[in-house]
Amino acid sequence: MALFDSFRGLFSSDMAIDLGTANTLVYVKGKGVVLSEPSVVAYHIKDGVKKVLAVGEDAKLMLGRTPGSIEAIRPMREGVIADFDTAEEMIKHFIRKVHKRSTFFGKPKIIVCVPHGATPVEKRAIRQSVMSAGARRAGLIAEPIAAAIGAGMPITDPTGNMVVDIGGGTTEVAVLSLGDIVYARSVRVGGDRMDEAIISYLRRQQNLLVGETTAERIKTSIGTARMPDDGRGTSMQIRGRDLLNGVPKEIEVTQAQIAEALAEPVQQICEAVMTALETTPPDLAADIVDRGVMLTGGGALLGDLDLALREQTGLAVSIADESLNCVALGTGKALEYEKQLRHAIDYES
Ligand SMILES: Nc1ncnc2c1ncn2[C@@H]1O[C@H](COP(=O)(O)OP(=O)(O)OP(=O)(O)O)[C@@H](O)[C@H]1O
Ligand SMILES: [Mg+2]
Repeated sequence: MALFDSFRGLFSSDMAIDLGTANTLVYVKGKGVVLSEPSVVAYHIKDGVKKVLAVGEDAKLMLGRTPGSIEAIRPMREGVIADFDTAEEMIKHFIRKVHKRSTFFGKPKIIVCVPHGATPVEKRAIRQSVMSAGARRAGLIAEPIAAAIGAGMPITDPTGNMVVDIGGGTTEVAVLSLGDIVYARSVRVGGDRMDEAIISYLRRQQNLLVGETTAERIKTSIGTARMPDDGRGTSMQIRGRDLLNGVPKEIEVTQAQIAEALAEPVQQICEAVMTALETTPPDLAADIVDRGVMLTGGGALLGDLDLALREQTGLAVSIADESLNCVALGTGKALEYEKQLRHAIDYES
């Protein structure tokens, strides 16, 4: 059976999937990350019947811009499946996109990462979606383990390693030692919450209504976790709707304003790290003070977040190379080195 499995492995492209709130990435065994697209599906609705119109990048362009006949949906919320059917459509689409060869051996084995705090029901939903999307076998791996492996941390050593994965939906803080999780906590603060904070700041302070897409663009262009030293920083022109008279308006926003808008979510991320440090057994906490903290996920790219975290926690902070790809790379590595990492992959529950 083992021989047959490895023979089959040569033909089918076994995969690792990072099913994220904001982005879904697919890693193919032996090839690396071959797909990275927004977790969005757009449907065309006619006479009450829904048909998939676009998935991924093309569907994201439609978010916030759809007429009544089109619905753009993000099936993942806070790291778990919020819309089961849509998640399945999306996974199917992405698998088909990377798995064009169909042979007798065609069905791939797939490993998917799940948030540490996912409930058994949520885990079952993810496993079922992957199976009905065409997997032969579906394994689950805890996201913090995948993130740490992907960031190249020595997680199997008998020392404490802290990884902070800041995604679209959640921030997961975890302490790992000897290849397993010692402490993990997920807070529902991530890139989406930052976008919402920008939207509500502009509404309150500037009477300007902007959509999620604009808020995200502001965040990735000039967003910062720390007040600029000159009290202003750079700026950009943005457009939205003037809430006083309802017409489109263009204004300039500064980094200082965005730092103020993002203060709360940034504070919540810092607090999650502090809580983790306080709750970790003392010897492991001492290791973390020595080795510092590793940031992964798209949120790690927020301007000066590493600095803000260092100032607030006193810990050294590094940002992983390819932080957006870390979880997918780590899940992929678990697939490549399955024998060594078997204890971390769950095929059953
Ligand atoms: N340069 C940047 N500055 C700030 N935020 C960024 C930057 N680039 C990407 N992001 C944000 O990172 C988030 C996406 O990160 P990532 O792909 O790691 O999330 P995810 O894995 O889909 O979500 P989750 O892990 O919560 O399920 C988005 O909210 C995006 O706006
Ligand atoms: Mg993620």
